[in-house]
Amino acid sequence: MTDRIVVTDVGPRDGLQNEDVQVATQAKIDLIQALAAAGVPHIEATAFVHPRWVPQLADATEVLQGIDRTPGTVYSALVPNVEGLERALAAGVDKVSVFTAASETFSRTNTNASIDQTLERFAGVFELCAARALPIRAYVSTAVRCPFEGDISPSAVAGVVERLLAMGPCEIDLGDTIGVAKPDDIDALLDAVGSMVPVDALVLHLHDTNGGALHCVRRAIERGVRRFDAACAGLGGCPYAPGAPGNLATEALLGLCAELGLQTGIDAQGVAAAGRAIRSQLNPV
Ligand code: HMG
Ligand code: MG
Repeated sequence: MTDRIVVTDVGPRDGLQNEDVQVATQAKIDLIQALAAAGVPHIEATAFVHPRWVPQLADATEVLQGIDRTPGTVYSALVPNVEGLERALAAGVDKVSVFTAASETFSRTNTNASIDQTLERFAGVFELCAARALPIRAYVSTAVRCPFEGDISPSAVAGVVERLLAMGPCEIDLGDTIGVAKPDDIDALLDAVGSMVPVDALVLHLHDTNGGALHCVRRAIERGVRRFDAACAGLGGCPYAPGAPGNLATEALLGLCAELGLQTGIDAQGVAAAGRAIRSQLNPV
């Protein structure tokens, strides 16, 4: 088992999508460039969703096109459908993140579509990405609990994962959207999906509402998971998931990795500086 942890910083997307302040396009670009300079291997830069649904990321094209790319860094973007993919391709995206959920109510609230309909929307996305050899990440939100339906069974998550894997090669990213998971929930999830997804293609995406995300990361690492999402400065949330504040902070994840002697290749000071800079945009003194 490798001792390397692969971190995706989702702050520019998952973080900034939920902030009341409209962050300037250049500040978003600066954030992404600072994370790349710190050695973050994968950055979720923005989302090509409908600007009426997420006005904070209406400048997705300008952001993605404005980045001075660091060689080797992967810049991904969230897309809900082929329309979003076409916008993302025109802006030069490296990797595409589609998103569905294990809860019907959350799916409808977040994307105006049932789980079935989200998967139907993805068919064209998988096809176009395959033709361009573009990697896909597939989020399954509300993998532990839904703000509307309550606890979600691991078998419901496994059912969605199975259908995503049947659509084509993709990385599976399990989202604790409202940040309430406990280590035992992680065990139950991994028991349900661990054998379906190769460990290199399995990611955990934890929000940190109750301060328990790092305990979950520890348990997941013990279980062999090596890929985690986090957001610098603990930015984040989902505007369509009441009670979903920050993502697990990248700074905290890097601290845990250092404590456990696990490599990330990331300069923690650089991430901390990027976090302070974006926080100053959100809460100007
Ligand atoms: P809809 O209204 O059902 O879309 O929205 P539609 O297909 O009926 O089309 C309506 C209009 O939207 C049309 O324009 C389309 O052209 C346009 P009109 O004819 O009215 O002028 N349209 C688009 N425009 C720009 N970009 C697009 C696009 N698609 C259609 N991609 C839709 C459906 C999915 C677009 C909408 O519900 C949406 O944008 N939802 C996004 C919600 C979102 O971004 N949520 C947050 C991200 S998910 C998350 O945070 C969870 C995660 O972090 C993991 C976790 O924590 O668990 C990933
Ligand atoms: Mg999220």
